[in-house]
Amino acid sequence: MNYYVTTSIPYVNGEPHVGHALEFIMTDVLARAARQRGDNVIFTTGSDEHGTKNVQTAERMGITPQQLVDQMSSRFISLMQDLNISNDRFIRTTDKDHERRAQIIWKALEKDIYKAKYVGWYDVKEEEFVPESKADPARMKADHPQAYQKLEEENYFFRLSSYTEQIKKVITDGSFRVVPDTRRNEILAVLKEGLEDISISRPKEKLDWGVPVPGDKDQVMYVWFEALMNYITVLGYPEGDDFKNFWPANVQVVGKDILRFHAAIWPGILMSLGIPLPKQLYVHGHITLDGKKMSKSLGNVVAPGQILEKYGTDPFRYYFLRHIPSYNDGDFSWDAFESSYNNELANELGNAVQRTAAMVMKYQNGNIGTFNQAEHDSTPVFQNIEDCRFDRALDEIWDQVRGLNQYIDEAKPWQIAKSIEKKKDDADHLQEVLAYQVGCLMEIADLLVPFLPDTAAKIKAVFETGVVRPIQGTLFPKAEPAPPAPAKE
Ligand code: MSP
Repeated sequence: MNYYVTTSIPYVNGEPHVGHALEFIMTDVLARAARQRGDNVIFTTGSDEHGTKNVQTAERMGITPQQLVDQMSSRFISLMQDLNISNDRFIRTTDKDHERRAQIIWKALEKDIYKAKYVGWYDVKEEEFVPESKADPARMKADHPQAYQKLEEENYFFRLSSYTEQIKKVITDGSFRVVPDTRRNEILAVLKEGLEDISISRPKEKLDWGVPVPGDKDQVMYVWFEALMNYITVLGYPEGDDFKNFWPANVQVVGKDILRFHAAIWPGILMSLGIPLPKQLYVHGHITLDGKKMSKSLGNVVAPGQILEKYGTDPFRYYFLRHIPSYNDGDFSWDAFESSYNNELANELGNAVQRTAAMVMKYQNGNIGTFNQAEHDSTPVFQNIEDCRFDRALDEIWDQVRGLNQYIDEAKPWQIAKSIEKKKDDADHLQEVLAYQVGCLMEIADLLVPFLPDTAAKIKAVFETGVVRPIQGTLFPKAEPAPPAPAKE
């Protein structure tokens, strides 16, 4: 089976943060789980490089927008490598191929495009047109730190309003599945009010950093309208084989703040093009830091690199997948991270591996003998992955880790070993107990492949040949105490 999964494409006007990392990791689990099932996978991610925000940031830094996006997109790529993200492609919206295909798409949408005057506000931070009725009066004042731009300009509009009912229908009947239900209800409430036509271009004289509107030298495409297209341009829409073979996407992963773009505007574009909608849209929550919203102005942004440097890739993936609720917002704190590392990774998983390997070494010279991978019912793990409930999937796997530790405590292989001298049968019994432990660990390792790929591979390497190959050091070495909290500004 073919399986296509995407992340949203972040703006690259600043350094990648843990929120971006969360989305990459979650999507990576879906891609790795699909590959493990034997699917043929395309996993794409990328960078959203046009728009006002990038222009303003570049100006502040005294460089060109192109220099900025070249510099910053490589930071995102290197973070992905550090997180062991297995994306097959990284699309940049300044890629010539994307720009050319975006123009093809624009032309294909022309029956739903018309020119009109836009009078209202523009929110640069969100790259969003804000009509008077929805605007925050405080931000209309020029001295507000996040003041809107006042716009009165000739734009192209997309007839989104005409798709309201169709979109409502596919979300309600589940053919376009929005997960979790809270987000589905949220978008249904928006649809109930009815969608308005949206502005989809900017005059070049005000913003010339964008994809030119075909046939109009004075206009560029609105950044969101063009960025959404990346999900099909990356597959070579319209004529590419990948588009033919992999669209519609199985899952598109986005954060809660961009729900409306992906559950209303994107479906409208696809319906106008006459092509199917993604099967599932998974909407994750946002990460707070020590209970507070992360923001550059509060000075409480944790760089993913700080965590990675101290704990490494899999512990990072583990914390964000298990302790940030998959269907809600979640919090990062160094304390919570450290206790998950020590208690769950080192003491529960690490210990089960370590003591099993050590006992096979000590009592059987490293020979495991015959063993079969254990076969507990893994359906709940797979179902939770399908539902993008990564936290629950890991809870299920950890039930097995805990179950194994409990088994070891009760079976007490060290006592069986002591009595071997007296009773020869006990050698067989000991071999069975240890083989069962190994079988459980091999099953756990298999289930962990999508979540903690390196750890899973290390565990398998210890036992898979039938003769224990001890790990160098330990799986999860004791970490140093957390660094002091960053200074408040
Ligand atoms: N460029 C647009 C997406 C275009 S997709 C065609 C964008 N970029 S973004 O950089 O602002 O956000 C990228 C993703 O990161 C979004 O899914 C967003 O929800 C997510 N996050 C941003 N801050 C976050 C947290 N604090 N926590 C979790 N995810 C966060 O929107």
